[in-house]
Amino acid sequence: MPKAYPVTDHTFDCIVVGAGGAGLRAAVGMVEAGLSVACLSKVYPTRSHTVAAQGGINAALGNIVEDDWRFHMYDTVKGSDWLGDQDAIEYMTRNAPAAVYELEHYGVPFSRTPDGRIYQRAFGGQSIHYGKAQAYRTCAAADRTGHALLHTLYQQALRHHVQFFNEYFALDLLMDEEGACRGVVAMSIGDGSIHRFRGHLTCLATGGYGRVYFACTSAHTCTGDGNAMVLRAGLPLQDMEFVQFHPTGIYGAGCLITEGARGEGGYLTNALGERFMERYAPTAKDLASRDVVSRAITIEINQGRGCGPNKDYVLLHLEHLGAELIRERLPGIAETARIFAGVDVTKEPIPVVPTCHYNMGGIPTDWRTQVVAPRNGDPDAIVPGLLAVGEAACTSVHGANRLGGNSLIDLVVFGRAAAHEAAARVRPGSPHKDLPRDAGEPAIARIDALLNGRGSLRPGEVRLAMQRTMQRHASVFRDGPTLEDGCRRLAEIAGSLSEIRLDDRSRVWNSDLVEALELQNLMLQAVATMHSAAFRTESRGAHAREDYPERDDRNWLVHTLCWVDQDFRPRLSTRPVHLHPLSNDVEPIPPQKRVY
Ligand code: FUM
Repeated sequence: MPKAYPVTDHTFDCIVVGAGGAGLRAAVGMVEAGLSVACLSKVYPTRSHTVAAQGGINAALGNIVEDDWRFHMYDTVKGSDWLGDQDAIEYMTRNAPAAVYELEHYGVPFSRTPDGRIYQRAFGGQSIHYGKAQAYRTCAAADRTGHALLHTLYQQALRHHVQFFNEYFALDLLMDEEGACRGVVAMSIGDGSIHRFRGHLTCLATGGYGRVYFACTSAHTCTGDGNAMVLRAGLPLQDMEFVQFHPTGIYGAGCLITEGARGEGGYLTNALGERFMERYAPTAKDLASRDVVSRAITIEINQGRGCGPNKDYVLLHLEHLGAELIRERLPGIAETARIFAGVDVTKEPIPVVPTCHYNMGGIPTDWRTQVVAPRNGDPDAIVPGLLAVGEAACTSVHGANRLGGNSLIDLVVFGRAAAHEAAARVRPGSPHKDLPRDAGEPAIARIDALLNGRGSLRPGEVRLAMQRTMQRHASVFRDGPTLEDGCRRLAEIAGSLSEIRLDDRSRVWNSDLVEALELQNLMLQAVATMHSAAFRTESRGAHAREDYPERDDRNWLVHTLCWVDQDFRPRLSTRPVHLHPLSNDVEPIPPQKRVY
């Protein structure tokens, strides 16, 4: 190790990177199994992005109308446009009710029905009896469900004595010669010290990478650091072309207005005052799946029926719902709309546009949360020692498009599955193999190069160029020439990373340094997203190609895999979709035309 960077070594049974809903649930379960667990988070845990989830968490409890986990499974497979792995989807939907009751017992303050049961609202793309009628499946704590869930899980983690390393920025996986993960190297943001964490299992719960886009609902911290660590370890990411645009981000500010607003009876209009969703989804209307609503809004705007002086947004109406319902069910978005759009939602509509919200793609895993990568002809070969959960992972329960309310349930069901995996595979206190001698050195060399960079560009300038390129070239609608141009443009921008010069104060506060490290991570994922989108010549779910408008199951009912090397050169391949459920008593759901 260079002398200037002293390294502290830590040893635990398991390492969890990330302290959002998935990471916390995994850590709690691992401690319950008697394992020692270090949980690293680059922010204080209750600032993790799970806190921003609004509308709710899906589970077929049947508290409002009848429901069945098989209906939830069907909706999720259909919502995924058949790209979701049906074994993982069965696992998630079947285990969802137990996971929600567990949260209730942990202390999540769910809203209640008049008879005291967990309140459930309608969300998009959800039905009972396989498309016959609207489901009420999304369990809610008003419109602050993620906040309630994250704080409760953090309290449980403290109660279980999970050892937190807060404001530690994970830099790289520690991989051995056999391709197994033995832990991570991280930097303490507070003092710049370097730490190696050894664990028999490392669980990546580092969230999505929404900040590759200019306008997104994601926190500034959503830079997909775990995804980038996986790429730097020579492993692929999966389905990166599938980026969800939420239909109702506040125009100009990007803040989320929950789908729960439409679930409670809100609706969209264009400049002509038309409820245009009736044309695009005659049955589900405003509660069609998100990709469908986002495309409809974009078409309205592109055809000149947008609102405002620039005709570039539509209106979300809640005025008719009444102040009482808004106060009880949607207090958070009333406040957000007042602060960020200057709108009193009881009197006027909110200007909204589709805004980047969620990454369906990420680190490929099986339903047990084990990271997989093709090896010796096996497309599902397991990477020893490495798990991934939450938005960082592509398990793949969301396929080409995620249903609203399915991300929180994904976090807790698969966080719990990761803990089960750890309990099955790790004996508490068992001895560790030695780390390779150079473990962590490439990460230290990267920091060294950034601190000594003498170029002329600030990290923020390069980041903005990348974000604008993603926004322009890989948005709701795509086509070949725009994507190819985007690939070229990103190559140039990635080339300019070597021209970065940090603010000299970064030697003291590490702020510019962290932004530059995050930017390196974002750039890898921007390249993976743009190239994966150019590679997939069909339209499926959130990936809408104007030059290939149809879904093409013959050629593209496969996951995309993308590797990106240190010079930002991509390599693309495919991997089969799991079209069979986990259990013999569950019928596969064969591909059909997807209409709402
Ligand atoms: O609209 C929302 O409340 C977002 C929920 C989700 O993304 O699951």
